[in-house]
Amino acid sequence: MPITQYQNNTSIYKKGDQKVYDITDEKRAWYRKISHESRLSKLSAEEGLIDSIHEINKPRFDPDLLMPQLESNGLTAISLFSGGGGLDLGFLRAGYQHIASYELILICKDTLTTNLESTNIYCGPDEGDVRKVNWNIYKDKVDIVHGGPPCQPFSVAGSRKGADDERNMWGEFSRAVNAMKPRVFIAENVLGILNPKFNDFVKKYILNELTDYSITTFKMHTADYGVPQIRERVFFVGFRNKPRLNKFTPPSPTHTWDHLGKNDSYPNCLLFDTGLEKTKGVRDCLGLHSIGFDNLAPTIRSAFTGKRNTTSILNSTAGQKSWGDMQIWPNGIQSSREKASAFPAKNKHFRLSVQDVGLIQGFPESWKFAGAVYQVLGQIGNSVSPPVAYHVAVSVANALKNT
Ligand SMILES: C[S@@+](CC[C@H](N)C(=O)[O-])C[C@H]1O[C@@H](n2cnc3c(N)ncnc32)[C@H](O)[C@@H]1O
Repeated sequence: MPITQYQNNTSIYKKGDQKVYDITDEKRAWYRKISHESRLSKLSAEEGLIDSIHEINKPRFDPDLLMPQLESNGLTAISLFSGGGGLDLGFLRAGYQHIASYELILICKDTLTTNLESTNIYCGPDEGDVRKVNWNIYKDKVDIVHGGPPCQPFSVAGSRKGADDERNMWGEFSRAVNAMKPRVFIAENVLGILNPKFNDFVKKYILNELTDYSITTFKMHTADYGVPQIRERVFFVGFRNKPRLNKFTPPSPTHTWDHLGKNDSYPNCLLFDTGLEKTKGVRDCLGLHSIGFDNLAPTIRSAFTGKRNTTSILNSTAGQKSWGDMQIWPNGIQSSREKASAFPAKNKHFRLSVQDVGLIQGFPESWKFAGAVYQVLGQIGNSVSPPVAYHVAVSVANALKNT
């Protein structure tokens, strides 16, 4: 049992007299080292000891083009665990109207209120905690309920306690769906939940709880939809009317990324032409000059995971090499492109801004995140990439069409 539960999803457990955080020792040491190095170089920049070496970048990637606004489809939606609004944005662009959004973290209220047309945005422990909501008020009044219950109980980055993790909110998701009785529910999570270790969990909290629904499960990779990041997620989509499920087809990739991760001299003739558009590499997306190599970003880490308020998006040591190969520095993210340009990384690699990280997750720059840098990175790193959400939303709407 955690002795303290932070709003940022970190729990503290007690081991003897010691407090321990639910990340591995290796990861903790590594996060500490990164943040120490970053603090030192920031001090040098503030003292004017470092000259700018990268111009302010002008991105060549517009996520709006990956999810053009569709006309209203007449379907209403309620968003649970809304975070910074990745799923909400995808559903909005696909023509849905949100009736309400619920999220525990208070700063998300500013983000969601600024960007969404819905006025019923409930955030913070008092009004946004899904455990406290009486969902009967929405009974038979909503077509779709969507949400990504916290993934830490199943994430390889955490201690994978599943049902024993206090952050397991799948029971709450099922309670909400069973009370509201939407035509469809859509739930998103990390691939870890598909690990055989969690088979009983999935049976107990999803399949056996949501018995009024016919459920399908599928995986999606962000880069298959034009977003330059390695990020795989699983979706559970349940239809109350079984024949509708038979009309549902999970989204198909719109993009290919076989060409990435190879240097420019890699012979093109070896690549199979799928006829799909090509996902751009990160350097290309951010408008950086060619270094003869480009790739997808490693999975962005949520800054809400861990003890301290971090401004790093680095998720693993493998990721560190991958960023290095692209000559991009994934730590000490800055609040603007101007600030990032004025604070070169020690190894002269390109320093990222929160706007750049938003793009790498598929958020258009018009989507404004509220909060300090670590809070913005937390919202981005926790989110479903909006173009991925968009394609799921469009597929569900197609299945519900009266044809
Ligand atoms: C994986 S994130 C969801 C991200 C969101 N779907 C998006 O696409 O941006 C899970 C969210 O659930 C929120 N959460 C956790 N416990 C909650 C609770 N009891 N009530 C409401 N939200 C909660 C977390 O704060 C976190 O923002």
